[in-house]
Amino acid sequence: MNEMRQTRAAQRRGVDEITGSRRLRRMRKADWSRRMVRESTLTADDLILPIFLIEGEDAEEPIGAMPGVVRHTVDRAVRVAERAARLGIPAIATFPNVPVARRDETGSAILDPDNLINRATRAIKAAVPEIGVVTDVALDPFTSHGHDGILRDGIIVNDETVAHIAQAAVLQAAAGTDIVAPSDMMDGRIGAIRDALDAAGFADVAIMSYATKFASAFYGPYREAIGTSGLLKGDKKTYYIDPANTDEALRETEQDLAEGADMVMVKPGLPYLDIVWRLKESFAVPTFAYQVSGEYAMIKAAAANGWIDGERAMMESLLAFKRAGCDGILSYFALEVAERLAE
Ligand code: PBG
Repeated sequence: MNEMRQTRAAQRRGVDEITGSRRLRRMRKADWSRRMVRESTLTADDLILPIFLIEGEDAEEPIGAMPGVVRHTVDRAVRVAERAARLGIPAIATFPNVPVARRDETGSAILDPDNLINRATRAIKAAVPEIGVVTDVALDPFTSHGHDGILRDGIIVNDETVAHIAQAAVLQAAAGTDIVAPSDMMDGRIGAIRDALDAAGFADVAIMSYATKFASAFYGPYREAIGTSGLLKGDKKTYYIDPANTDEALRETEQDLAEGADMVMVKPGLPYLDIVWRLKESFAVPTFAYQVSGEYAMIKAAAANGWIDGERAMMESLLAFKRAGCDGILSYFALEVAERLAE
């Protein structure tokens, strides 16, 4: 079939297809010509840096499964945010590792105006007002069972969880966050958060919805980072999307946009670029992807073994997000990439 088509095209033009006028290698011959025809570029503007938080002062803790990434005390997180701002990274996203003693069945510490997230937001906005702060609105760092929702008789209860996180979003806004990012996948959370923010006078606080968050194995290292891996009972399949589904991802996104999401996110990233592409094509709204902990860990581990060139794999993976249609990427490589781009 393909062969027939080629033959006919060649006959039409009277030339052999291979040695004919069409030679795509012509523009690949030199660095200047490759740069001239390049379609996608990666800049620091495309990056959002996730920062893990711990209690204490002037300290950091390594994360075994994420070489190069550490948990920072709030004062250190401020310094990281300063560095990110200097490198031109537009925003950071914070994730707390809450002391186990402060976690409970309903994740009540998310409603503490002085919890780790809110203290970090205040400190970062005071010291580095020019960087955007994105805060995660989900219960999992605060629950004793590691789930993103309130657990009753073995079931994650939707509406009670939504009421809880809508209140938490208001407290985060009061602490000065610019963008709230609900990552729990409860139904109706975007509308509830929008209403709560507006009613409390925070009409300017934006919502970046984790619109399509899949039930993925690639979150493993993150659960070590925020200390939920030992706590989590069961899995998150009753609220995250089945990795097999695309139409469902579209419906989730449509719903979140109708409820007032300003931006949408796809998570994980690289294994789900088809979703990024389809969302961007369908909705034409600011679309982000989260290059999650497992994706980071795979590149780092292969590089540490000398199996791949880690730096090239890092740059290529991020460029792939841009090619697929992303407006930005949450990535643990953000600082490293921004430094590399500034060279
Ligand atoms: C949960 C949440 C997850 C991540 C961020 N927030 C997933 C999970 O633990 O189930 C994953 C981020 C990553 O893997 O880098 N609200």
